[in-house]
Amino acid sequence: MPSNETTFFIIRGITDDPQFQIIIFCLVLFIYLTTIAGNLTFLSLVCFDHHLHTPMYIFLGNLSVVDMLCSTITQHNVLLSFITKDKSIGYGSCMAQMYMFGSLTGQELLILTAMGYDRYVAICRPLLYYNIMNKRTCVLLNGACWIWGFLQIMPPLGVFYTFTCYSSRVINHFFCDILPLMKLSCNDISLLRIFFFMECLVLIGCTPFFLTFISYIFIIRNIMKIRSTTGKRKAFYTCSSHLTVVLLLYTTLFSQYMSPDLNDSTKLFALFNTAAVPLLNPLIYSLKNKDVKAALRQSLVRLK
Ligand SMILES: *[C@@H]1O[C@H](CO)[C@@H](O)[C@H](O)[C@H]1NC(C)=O
Repeated sequence: MPSNETTFFIIRGITDDPQFQIIIFCLVLFIYLTTIAGNLTFLSLVCFDHHLHTPMYIFLGNLSVVDMLCSTITQHNVLLSFITKDKSIGYGSCMAQMYMFGSLTGQELLILTAMGYDRYVAICRPLLYYNIMNKRTCVLLNGACWIWGFLQIMPPLGVFYTFTCYSSRVINHFFCDILPLMKLSCNDISLLRIFFFMECLVLIGCTPFFLTFISYIFIIRNIMKIRSTTGKRKAFYTCSSHLTVVLLLYTTLFSQYMSPDLNDSTKLFALFNTAAVPLLNPLIYSLKNKDVKAALRQSLVRLK
């Protein structure tokens, strides 16, 4: 716990300009509601339509849950502080937010890595697909993603929690994220910074990236071997949605943590970055996959 003074922080939000704040509020509300509605629709399709009870959709169901939690964590401060006009957040809540955001981001990467393996099996071992990706493997992989996601962020945050001194309470961001908080610390954090970047880069970022990359090398090699153009197209089609989401997630994460000092426009950019994957993920999978479209059509017919 920090000494006497820092028992709360102020989350500055994206802007101080009141007029601009209204626009931001409406924008975030729209993004948030669309994200939740899209993911809930997708989840209910995955749960209730037995055509979608395949490993890929089980992973996607888990990804939808992670996405909804992630957008709630990053966006609820903007919405609540606009309504209540109170921008403060307790030390504990702030740390919890930081921990949850770190874990969930890691989980997104892990689930997408597991899905990369799933696509590898689907394309390179199609006949053994249901033997390899059986129920047990799915539960193991999904469970591992959740557990490892919650564990892997602990070491750097554990060190962070021991810091006690902050030069200011005002966090120049729209939620408690580690980089803006690190800037406020007046402890000597140069060692933590190195440790943090190493962990994030090697463990949380590079390992999933590397594994996904290997899956795709095998997938591409296999697609190249297919003679017919229709066969090639069909094989590519089975992994195109996954590839789209993977590219989207890695580019947004990369640009988020590489962006320079925070001002209003880079914070707005960060908002779109954190919102993009949860918002677009169900859309990408629904628009591109015939199964999902068929399931959606069927449930609409049933509602009538
Ligand atoms: C998440 O994964 C587990 C384990 O495979 C599965 O039982 C569960 O149905 C999945 N959740 C969703 C919402 O799809």
